[in-house]
Amino acid sequence: MKTYKIACIPGDGIGKEVVPAGQTVLEALAATQNEFAFEFTSFDWGGDYFRQHGVMMPENGLDALRNQDAILFGSAGDPHIPDHITLWGLRLKICQGFDQYANVRPTRILPGIDAPLKRCKPQDLDWVIVRENSEGEYAGVGGRAHQGHPIEVATDLSVMTRAGVERIMRYAFKLAQSRPRKLLTVVTKSNAQRHAMVMWDEIALQISKEFPDVTWDKELVDACTARMVNRPASLDTLVATNLHADILSDLAAALAGSLGIAPTGNIDPERRYPSMFEPIHGSAFDIMGKGLANPVGTFWSCVMLLEHLGENAAAAALMAAIEQVTANPTLHTRDLGGSATTADVTQAVCAQIAQPQAQRKAA
Ligand code: IPM
Ligand code: MG
Repeated sequence: MKTYKIACIPGDGIGKEVVPAGQTVLEALAATQNEFAFEFTSFDWGGDYFRQHGVMMPENGLDALRNQDAILFGSAGDPHIPDHITLWGLRLKICQGFDQYANVRPTRILPGIDAPLKRCKPQDLDWVIVRENSEGEYAGVGGRAHQGHPIEVATDLSVMTRAGVERIMRYAFKLAQSRPRKLLTVVTKSNAQRHAMVMWDEIALQISKEFPDVTWDKELVDACTARMVNRPASLDTLVATNLHADILSDLAAALAGSLGIAPTGNIDPERRYPSMFEPIHGSAFDIMGKGLANPVGTFWSCVMLLEHLGENAAAAALMAAIEQVTANPTLHTRDLGGSATTADVTQAVCAQIAQPQAQRKAA
């Protein structure tokens, strides 16, 4: 039997509630078969760790994660610590330290979810956003001078490398190729940003030659927001820069019904390092500690984690269990207009997992 080593980093806020819920459903899945098991190691990094040690995670923290098979992450964000410190001190330190350059964000309208676009049928919205996750607007290059003086200056430089753009384009084309519609939209802003985004477009064209069976088009990021609302079915796989995809993925999650459902994977496609899976919702301090957090974003992230490990049957079983549960409005959390708790949803998903396949299908 294979044992997968999973590092759990709940982080801050509701991360501390949804990551244990994720562990519970992974344990429930492991209990249904004899092929694999999980060995979880939890790390108490985040805002509380910062208050004690002055850093979000230990200096050599990446070493503790290096030999893990995957990382399950909650969220980083603390009302008493500036956001750029919590982000750069933990989540980005892991993403960039492990060169997890492909951030993958699937969005679908799950059964039972009331999505805000009235003309959009659930089958019209089935997207995967591929976010460049290692450079661009998040390269961290820039600085401040003359601080506190009237002539103060500050810069954030967006950095794009040919190697960085080629690898994310290749990843996106490959992902598009693996999906039934084989359709990719390259999101750009080369009308206004006339250097890096023009190179981005050129590289998209170059890489497209390696994938003659993928149909692709280009869309300016501003027009893309309108297209997501007006013609959702015209999109399938999208690839965008770090910041463009950050914004588009929140819109995508909202159009699919709730930020509480949306999952993501920070992937090192070359598998030199562990990849990291997390819900995209953030720490949500307003509801923390109340048991109100929607654990579905974490469960769906666990589906992505299982797929990354190659456990496709288990991933499909978990996704089916999640969809059985979202289909039942009495099991909706507050973000979906319901009154179910994190524990209610977790128990219901575990109960679905424990049911034999045939019964589950019939349910
Ligand atoms: C995301 C988040 C982060 C980001 C925040 C927490 C800095 O919004 O994962 O989409 O912008 O990358
Ligand atoms: Mg975001």
